[in-house]
This record gives sequence, C-alpha cells and structure tokens, in this order.
Amino acid sequence: MLPPMPLQPNQLLADLSIDAKVYLKHFYQQEASLVAAAPGRVNLIGEHVDYCDGFVLPLAIDRHVVIAAGLNNSREARIRTGGEEEAVISLEGEQKVGDPKWSNYLRGVLEGFRLQGSWPVPGFNAAIVSSVPIGGGLSSSAALELAFATIVEGFVDTVLDTKEKALLCQQAEHDFVGVPCGLMDQFASAFGQTDNFVLIDCQSQEPELVPFHSNDLSILVANTMVSHDLADGEYRARRKSTEQSLAILGKESWREVAISDVETKKEELGDVNCRRSRHVVGEIARTAEAAGELRKDNYAALGPLMAASHNSLRDDFEVSCKELDLMVELANEVGFEGGVLGSRMVGAGFGGSTVTLCRADRIREIGAQLSVGYEQETGHHPQLFATRPVQGARLL
Ligand code: GLA
Repeated sequence: MLPPMPLQPNQLLADLSIDAKVYLKHFYQQEASLVAAAPGRVNLIGEHVDYCDGFVLPLAIDRHVVIAAGLNNSREARIRTGGEEEAVISLEGEQKVGDPKWSNYLRGVLEGFRLQGSWPVPGFNAAIVSSVPIGGGLSSSAALELAFATIVEGFVDTVLDTKEKALLCQQAEHDFVGVPCGLMDQFASAFGQTDNFVLIDCQSQEPELVPFHSNDLSILVANTMVSHDLADGEYRARRKSTEQSLAILGKESWREVAISDVETKKEELGDVNCRRSRHVVGEIARTAEAAGELRKDNYAALGPLMAASHNSLRDDFEVSCKELDLMVELANEVGFEGGVLGSRMVGAGFGGSTVTLCRADRIREIGAQLSVGYEQETGHHPQLFATRPVQGARLL
C-alpha cells in the first residue's frame, strides 16, 4: 500500500492579497487603494453543453486571481503580472486588440465597460498574482477577467449586476481573445458561493445555488499538467458541429431535443454529428438529474452520472485525451470501496484536469494512488489538490 500523499499546498487568499500589494509597491511605488479577487472553477458535471442551452454544475474553487491597484493620474492603465511584459493600455476611447497577448483579456473587459457606458475609466496601476494553474482547465482566464472587471467597477464607482458582469467578461473573451466560450466559467467565477454548487440554466442564463452539505466528502482536482495545442480549434469545431446538428434536427434549442429525435435523424446527421448530438442530449439530462440528487444529498448517485459523462466526452464528443482517461481510470480503480464516488474530465478537454468526488478521510491515500500511477505511466508529475466551493469575485 502507498503512503498517504500530502496534496499540493494552497496559497491562502490573504497571502495572495499581500503578495499583490507588495508587487504593486515594488513595481509602481504605490499603496493599493483597491484589491479584488476572483476564483477559478471546476465543473462537477455538464460539460460542453453551456453553449447548447444546457445545464452545468460548476463550483468556484479556492484558487484565485488577485489584483491590487491604485490610481496613477494618467489616461493609461499600467499592469504587471509575474515575469510577463508590462501591459500599457490607453484609456482614451475604443479599445483594440494589442500586445502583450495576455493583455487582451483586460482590453476586452475595458471595452465592455466602455460600451456599457461606465466610461471614462481613470488611469491606474495594477499588479496581478494568481494561484489558478494556467492551462490546467480551471478557468484562469475567467478568473482574470472577473478580478479585473471588479477592479474597474471600483474605479468607476459602479457595481454591475453580477450577470451583466459575467456576460461582459464572456464577450471580452469572444471579441479580444477569439475563444467562442460558453458562459460557464465566467458565471462560476462571478456567482460562486461558499459550500454551494452553481447550477446554471444556460438557456435562461439564470444561476441557482445548490448546497454542498457533506463534510465527509471532498472534491479532488487532478491537473494532468498536459495541454494539447489542438484545444482551441477543436473547441470551435465542436460548437460548429452542435449548431449544424441542431439545424438538421429542426429545433430552436437543445432543450427541445429528445434522444429519439437524434435516432430519427441519424442518417441526415451522419456518424459524427449524431454522436455529438447524443452527448449533448445525454449530458443535459445527466446534469439535471445530478442537481436533483444533490438537492436530496444523495451523493452516491453522482458517481454513475459522472462516469457516464466522462465516457460520453471520450467516445461521443471526443474531447478527452489519454492522460485524462488515465487519471479517471486510476480513480475508478480505487473505486467506491476505496472512497471514490465518481471521477471525470473537466472543462474544454485535450488536457487539463479531472474532478473526483471522494471521501474526505481517504483523500490523501487516493491522491497517492493517482499521483504515483499517473507518473509511472506518463512521466509527468500531476498536481493534485482538494477543494470546496468558495465565494465568487469581489473586492477584498
Ligand atoms: C471551456 C469553456 C466553457 C465550456 C467548457 C466545456 O471551459 O470556456 O464555456 O464550454 O469549456 O464545458
């Protein structure tokens, strides 16, 4: 038997906040007048259906982007993060895509505020720190957008409606980063609440909090530390395929599609679109069912739903990869007896992380099995940590 493994230590939000203030002082010789934090997310179930009017069930995690900022009496935003090149953004008029590349998340958010009428934004300096692993499929970009939007709100002295703020950030990602993402990541980072999952109805765009009552259970995130380049192109292709399929099915929304409709139109859809459609219809139903079971605190029922979700993403939607499959298999090998209730890939796929619902008192043993098994097979050292739902974006 393997010895229990210490999981990845986390940087407390309070420490991140101190770091951000120290960076601001170091780079710009200034005390912070505003500090904002926004969390990353994992998704319990409901994958690749947020852009299909589906249900998704993410939670905000205690991994954050934190920004410390202060006014600078200019017409520019000057922003530093880690070793990256400084971003200098003019605040005169319309915002355009620019350099450095990472600054486009921020430029997009600023443009959202301009279009929304909260303009001009006064010049400011900002320093960004983060404990959300980049490329881990845990929505570091949504956390960056939401933390930045929260800082801008502070400087224009306006508090946007939370939904409006999340949608503004999603639009920023579409227009300035070129990723046609759904709304899940920004909604999770904006609406997250301590000890609650965020059930999002992506058709009505309404979130509903579903409490996570159990202290006996934990959420184990396993970052495979791989991210395959094809992710962006494949994501676009999946969106396109679901749009085409919906048109072939002759429906207005995926919420009106039954699995029998997919069967009936099998020939017209063709093999690939048929399998993509089967995933969407199945995943929407599984997520609604999972939310129902969560409301009854029936956690054991989540395992088979998570397994079916992973298999469908692997076989029908084809967004998994061998590293994600291996991590899920390792969790399945531990099994219910060993404390694992369910495990599946998270986010866009082609790398990133898995989520495993497991018994809290077994998490270190489970972590050891996953970590050792994964490293033996792939040569990569995975990053594992336990998490619970935390509060969404806010000023500290
Ligand atoms: C990415 C996108 C989300 C969602 C997931 C897949 O994280 O940003 O909008 O589509 O992939 O569920």
